[in-house]
Amino acid sequence: MERYIIKGGTPLMGEVEISGAKNAALGILAAAIMTDETVTIENLPDVKDINVLIDAIEGIGATVNRVNRHCVKINGSTITSVHADNEYIKKIRASYYLLGALLGKFNKAEVTLPGGCNIGSRPIDQHIKGFTMLGADVKIEYGMIIAEAEKLHGAHIFFDMVSVGATINVMLAASLAEGNTIIENAAKEPHIVDVANMLNSMGANIKGAGTDVIRIRGVKKLHGTEYSVIPDQIEAGTFMFAAAATRGDILVKNVIPKHLEALTAKLYEVGCSVEEYDDSVRVIGNPVQKCSQVKTLPYPGFPTDMQPQITVVFALAQGTSTVTESIFENRFKYVDELTKMGAKIRVKSDVAVIEGVTGLTGANVNALDLRAGAALVLAGLCAEGYTTIEDIHYIQRGYENFDEKLRKLGAMIQIVYDDREEQKFKLQVV
Ligand code: UD1
Repeated sequence: MERYIIKGGTPLMGEVEISGAKNAALGILAAAIMTDETVTIENLPDVKDINVLIDAIEGIGATVNRVNRHCVKINGSTITSVHADNEYIKKIRASYYLLGALLGKFNKAEVTLPGGCNIGSRPIDQHIKGFTMLGADVKIEYGMIIAEAEKLHGAHIFFDMVSVGATINVMLAASLAEGNTIIENAAKEPHIVDVANMLNSMGANIKGAGTDVIRIRGVKKLHGTEYSVIPDQIEAGTFMFAAAATRGDILVKNVIPKHLEALTAKLYEVGCSVEEYDDSVRVIGNPVQKCSQVKTLPYPGFPTDMQPQITVVFALAQGTSTVTESIFENRFKYVDELTKMGAKIRVKSDVAVIEGVTGLTGANVNALDLRAGAALVLAGLCAEGYTTIEDIHYIQRGYENFDEKLRKLGAMIQIVYDDREEQKFKLQVV
């Protein structure tokens, strides 16, 4: 099985180019099937979740032309089925965006129940509530979500909690519903704005994305467009925190600094220096970094998808830090892996108390989910000796060429397939 082998202890230095935002691209790909004209999407990240969704889109009959690794042309006029189900699509969370897109376009959708990282119970009641209010009958049968409507109509929807997925899904379906929809308590993440901008460029009429009230005036049909996905806020943040954790100096390029403000603020607090430019951010780690507190919140708060990575920064800071997870109830499982590397962390329900240590040591650990896996890579880069990380397929779901980008910054990391290759790596890096 593929795994990473890392020799830690080198501060990361240099420049890194950030790829397109996975979570925006997933919504945008689903939106692309809602017209019969061709849609060109650029700046797609070449990661597993994206490729699985593109395969699923091809699987229902849409014409997909992979122009290159980062660009795809999709034509939804050839769709022959509203039934999306295969062994891969089950594993990704964003399969549910096909529900909103197919329901909006054909008034019917049958999509397998979503998978995704195991970080909590992750119900979809708010998606179902939204579709039902738009006039659909939604049921779950044989592991499939089946949504059907005679005709979708606008509605006034008040979400019970802030949900990225439900906000995007209702935006998709409501774009082609008859009449006006208002989503209250909407999510405000940058990818909500990106999906709304993309739909508007296809002729939709969506206002207020990026605030907690989104107004959608349904239109009769959507048309083709060319659209470029925004940079990935979480990938950027991961490299920013890699600079902090390894006490390095990284210029993170192709970012929107405004989307990174919650992260930048924490980096200042721990004592890093951060320089912001128009489309890049430079982070310089400090040999001695301070403890702090963080609580995950919907945007513009500190993102839950950066929670494991900041825990690594805190694990190597001076003093006792706390991390409170308020979005997902099961997102501290990776702490046991960090403990194997010498971190001192206690978890009590939704709070991790982290006592800073002066160094970590290499160990054999498992990537339990996407962001936890990225955090273990950061820990391995800081640790003395060798770290092997198993189950890196989780990491590959969301980070394009992670090991290659890290190597360009001076990291000693490689993908190996067996013990012999691991030994070879160890001989090379001594
Ligand atoms: C998306 C992101 C994920 C990120 C999360 C929060 C994608 C593909 N994934 O996930 O990386 O960690 O936003 O920023 O974009 N909830 C319900 N009922 C629902 C929907 C959500 O109770 O119908 C709860 C969830 O269990 C969770 C919270 O609401 O506690 C937020 O979830 P949500 O924003 O929907 O996350 P996802 O869209 O699944």
